[in-house]
Formats: sequence, structure tokens, C-alpha cells
Amino acid sequence: MEPITQHIPVLYGEALDLLKVRPGEVYVDATLGGAGHARGILERGGLVLGLDQDPEAVARAQALNLPGLRVFQANFRHLKGVLEAAGVRQVAGILADLGVSSFHLDDPRRGFSYQKEGPLDMRMGGEGPTAEEAVNRLPLEELFRILRDLGEEKQAYRIAKAIVEARRKAPIRTTTQLAEIVRQAVGFRKAGHPARKTFQALRMYVNDELAALGEFLAQAEEALAPGGRLVVITFHSLEDRMVKRFLRESGLKVLTKKPLVPSPKEVEQNPRARSAKLRAAEKEGA
Ligand SMILES: C[S@@+](CC[C@H](N)C(=O)[O-])C[C@H]1O[C@@H](n2cnc3c(N)ncnc32)[C@H](O)[C@@H]1O
Repeated sequence: MEPITQHIPVLYGEALDLLKVRPGEVYVDATLGGAGHARGILERGGLVLGLDQDPEAVARAQALNLPGLRVFQANFRHLKGVLEAAGVRQVAGILADLGVSSFHLDDPRRGFSYQKEGPLDMRMGGEGPTAEEAVNRLPLEELFRILRDLGEEKQAYRIAKAIVEARRKAPIRTTTQLAEIVRQAVGFRKAGHPARKTFQALRMYVNDELAALGEFLAQAEEALAPGGRLVVITFHSLEDRMVKRFLRESGLKVLTKKPLVPSPKEVEQNPRARSAKLRAAEKEGA
């Protein structure tokens, strides 16, 4: 039997405190997932517009039937359109908790895990090209750049070459096949699985994650009412840098000089929280 997946919200108390939820006000949870953070907003009396690009996450959230929660299947890069469709002009706060959820990692069918055999899919929204198409079709140079830039993988060239050599013999179809190609190319690594960064890079490429984040941030600033707060939790240094720079250059007032990170206790209880960083800002003029 498959174990039952639970997604533990990261930096839960910190995110909710920084959102400063006020009863009756409307908040956006741009990455609804298992609705962990959203429940917190609801419990504090807020109303939530919840977005997720993943139809499975959307179906799960809808089935919860939480009063005060409206669920939208949408990429947060379309935030403005979602608000228009919902008939909402501005909101009191916006939360984004980026990346994949435990539901994604635990389900081999989705192809996110290098530890579980599954098809090389990795699409959160179920549309567009898959990771399988990327590894079998992209030119060597492009694969190299993806692994170097999105994975910050030091052996990007060696891995890209190994992928191209392997696919000449037979198409690469599964997660464990790819993980094994990477392992053979780079050997044993002390810090984590050798394929971790390769999988992260492909996932970010397949889901166009950095571009989506950039578009979202610009729309989020506009969507905040005066005094409204934006809270973003990232799991990747490129994303954190993007958020940091955006907040510095935006008209928002930064509330976190340094990003908040989880306590050792939280990391112990939830290893997925390990690389989390939270930044928050406020729209002035309340
Ligand atoms: C880390 S989980 C969020 C977990 C949630 N905060 C909770 O407490 O349960 C991220 C979720 O955001 C979704 N997601 C990631 N990128 C997205 C995007 N660009 N637009 C909409 N949803 C996105 C994923 O499908 C996933 O369900």
C-alpha cells in the first residue's frame, strides 16, 4: 500500500505572522498545495483565493470544502487574470510557497523523484513538454546550460554529455534510468544524491519556474492594497536572489532585512524545510 502523503507547511507560524491576517480581509495563497498555510489564514478569519497550477492539488483542495476558500486552477504568473475573474481588485496579503509539494515527490507517476521509478514527466500543470522530451531532444549545449544555471551543478558538462551518449543508444524514459546515468557520470557524492541537482534543474526548466516567478512578483505588487503584505518562501538560491532583488527594486517596504530560515527543530521534523528562505514586504500607504 502507498503511504499516505501529508504536506507539512514550511515556516508556518512565521509566514502567518508576517501576513498579519485580519478577519474578513481577502488573501491570495498563490501556491495552495495541501492548503496548510491557507487553513492558517482561514483560522485567523481571513478569506482565501487559492491558486495552484496542478489539477490534482486543485481537486484535493476543493474536496476539503473549507468555508472561505475559493480555489482556482492557474499558474500564479496569471495572478492578475485570476483576480479579475474573481472580481477582486486588491487584496490584503499574498503568500507564495514555491516549488513542489510532498504530494508531487511521493507520487512516482509524476516523475519528480530520483528515488522512485516513474515516467520522466515533472510537469506540475500537466501541460507542455515533459522532462523526457527535454533529456531526449535538447542539444548538448542547452542541456549543459540548464544543469549549470538552474541546477548550479558543477559537473554540468559531464552529466549533459553522459545524457547525450546514453540517449544515442536508447531513449531515456524513466526517473531511475536518468538517476543512474548521472550517478555513473559523476560517481558517489557525500552531500546528497548525485542526481539531486540534475532533477531540480530539469523541473525548473520544464515548469519555466524562474520566468513565472518574475511575472508573478510584478503582478503581486500591483495587487496589494495599501498596507498589504507579500510573503514569499523559496527553496532555491536563484529564486531567493530573484525575490531579494525584486523587493529591493520594487516600491515595497522590506520587512525582512535577512531572510527567515527554519529552526533546527523544524528541519529535523521536516527535512523538506532545509533550504527554505522567507522574505516579506509591505505596500506602503495604509
Ligand atoms: C510547496 S507547495 C505549497 C504547499 C502549501 N503552502 C501548503 O501549506 O500545503 C507548492 C504548490 O504550488 C504549486 N505551484 C508551484 N508553482 C506554481 C505556479 N507557478 N503557479 C501555481 N501553482 C504553483 C505546486 O503545484 C504545489 O502544489
